[in-house]
Amino acid sequence: MLGFAGSLRSGSYNKALLRAAVNLLPEDVTLEIFDIDGIPLFNQDVEANIPPKVKEFKSKIREASAILIATPEYNYSVPGVLKNAIDWASRPYGDNPFDGKPVAIISASIGMLGGARAQYHLRQMFVFLNMYPVNGPEVIVPFAQNKFDASGSLVDENTKKFLTQLLQNLVHWTGRLSGKSHR
Ligand SMILES: Cc1cc2nc3c(=O)[nH]c(=O)nc-3n(C[C@H](O)[C@H](O)[C@H](O)COP(=O)(O)O)c2cc1C
Repeated sequence: MLGFAGSLRSGSYNKALLRAAVNLLPEDVTLEIFDIDGIPLFNQDVEANIPPKVKEFKSKIREASAILIATPEYNYSVPGVLKNAIDWASRPYGDNPFDGKPVAIISASIGMLGGARAQYHLRQMFVFLNMYPVNGPEVIVPFAQNKFDASGSLVDENTKKFLTQLLQNLVHWTGRLSGKSHR
């Protein structure tokens, strides 16, 4: 599966959450992390001439069995960098690599709602992208500054438990959508 975070900063809690996910995956499942840093601002004038970084992003999405998005909440929604990356990947019209993919969302925030509102804005995008989100558990990490150690490792046991469960559910969901499992 492929994961990406809606934050560019090196000390991002959401990037740290993605790194934690790598270690909590079910056996035989791998998670590749893609850094959206370097994706230029979308301009429809140049969408036919896709920038190399976007090309790479689109092909990673296409190859992935499932998608995991870790997002901060900015002004009660998703950060512009994340929306921009998703917009680029979805273009040109008719060439949307997200089409039909299973997806899960995780979010971390220093605030008390943990990015919940951004998660619901992402879910709205999944309708037009035709993605199939896992509904639970909702991994929402409030007060993120207390959940990671100084090196960015996730140390909160409850968050680890819910994240592990979500990843298991994403793998099962992926199996169901591909017709390989009836669970
Ligand atoms: C422009 C901006 C807007 C923000 N708006 C919100 C918000 O609406 N809700 C929230 O919980 N946190 C908000 N925050 C705080 C973020 O949760 C915090 O910066 C978080 O660490 C960002 O995620 P990151 O650590 O992955 O970069 C905002 C931060 C910025 C820079």
